[in-house]
Amino acid sequence: MLTGKNKITYFDNAASSWPKPEVVYQAMDDFMRNIGGNPGRSGHRVSIAAARIIFEARESLAGLFGLADSSRIIFTANATEALNLAIKGALKKGGQVITSGFEHNSVMRPLRFLEQESKVQITSIGPSQDEMVDLRLLEKAITAQTKLIVSVHGSNVTGDIAPIEKISAIAKKHKIPFLVDASQTAGCMPIDLSRLEIDMLAFTGHKALLGPQGTGGLYIKEGIELAALKQGGTGSSSESERQPDFLPDKYESGTPNTVGIAGLGAGVKYILKTGIQEVWKKKKHLRAYLLKSLGSIDRIKIYGNLQPEGLAVVSFNLGDLSPSEIARQLSEKFAIMTRPGLHCSPLAHRTINTFPKGTLRASLSNFNTSQEIDHFIKCLKKIARNPA
Ligand SMILES: Cc1ncc(COP(=O)(O)O)c(C=O)c1O
Repeated sequence: MLTGKNKITYFDNAASSWPKPEVVYQAMDDFMRNIGGNPGRSGHRVSIAAARIIFEARESLAGLFGLADSSRIIFTANATEALNLAIKGALKKGGQVITSGFEHNSVMRPLRFLEQESKVQITSIGPSQDEMVDLRLLEKAITAQTKLIVSVHGSNVTGDIAPIEKISAIAKKHKIPFLVDASQTAGCMPIDLSRLEIDMLAFTGHKALLGPQGTGGLYIKEGIELAALKQGGTGSSSESERQPDFLPDKYESGTPNTVGIAGLGAGVKYILKTGIQEVWKKKKHLRAYLLKSLGSIDRIKIYGNLQPEGLAVVSFNLGDLSPSEIARQLSEKFAIMTRPGLHCSPLAHRTINTFPKGTLRASLSNFNTSQEIDHFIKCLKKIARNPA
């Protein structure tokens, strides 16, 4: 948080988390000033130091996700690239794909692209009375042509959590690969891949994992073979003009974003040190306090299942005020940063009947406080009383 007259209340952590822990800034600064080599490309000291940073970040992520083999984690530029790799890789031969009704455009756009090329048919399953995905309809939608099931883990619109364990059981029963978009949950909610039957899990580095923008990754379970999105130099098997077929090199070509991965690794270490259960507990506390406080505002409509097991991400509308106008006033008059509109998730907004107007979204990180929520509520009430 900035101090003095520059102080802002940052409630847009579902877009990108901010601020980052001090160790993230330090790790990136240290790489840029004191290391700077190309990882794994040359045999000298700073090249080895750069490779070490990437290895340690991969190991930290494996630790966070309960994985014994960190080479199953592929670094990408963001969750979007990870999802493209998973979706295009798994659906190379086409077929039917089943999604939740809450997918982000980084799932829907690659799918619509493949659909336009007549490669895939898309079936999206809405929520049931008490779950984000109607499991009965999901299982009914499965055919011999179903080649992939995709579900967002935590909704970036409502903060609700999808029943991924139950979906994975259905996917396993029908021997269909299951891809989870953990963009909003990785780093703030426990995800144990040694226990969960998940075949691919996409994550982004710049949200709850507390790393910088331009980082992300994909976990690929042993036995899942994907067509790579790109080929090129890896620093390994340099005698061959063919792409290595071992992980992570098969899917990681070109000089990586080492400075970003240095920051991401530091963010993950910070989370491991704090304890993921502690982080999750605080997130749920912030969600409960935010929901309760918003509930005290007249004419407010809050979307989603409002369950305690959810993210500190809340979407709402205030009477018939436009979400963009409220967000503008919050920013300009009170220095509170929120996000109005459709949040790159038109499908989710169609599912909750808020398309095309959308909602106003407040999304908190563990660095936010209940005092900031109190301030936010006071300002929202002022805007509601005097909207002009
Ligand atoms: C649920 C979900 N999936 C995917 C993404 C895409 O993440 P990135 O911008 O890092 O590619 C986001 C980002 O907002 C998201 O919320």
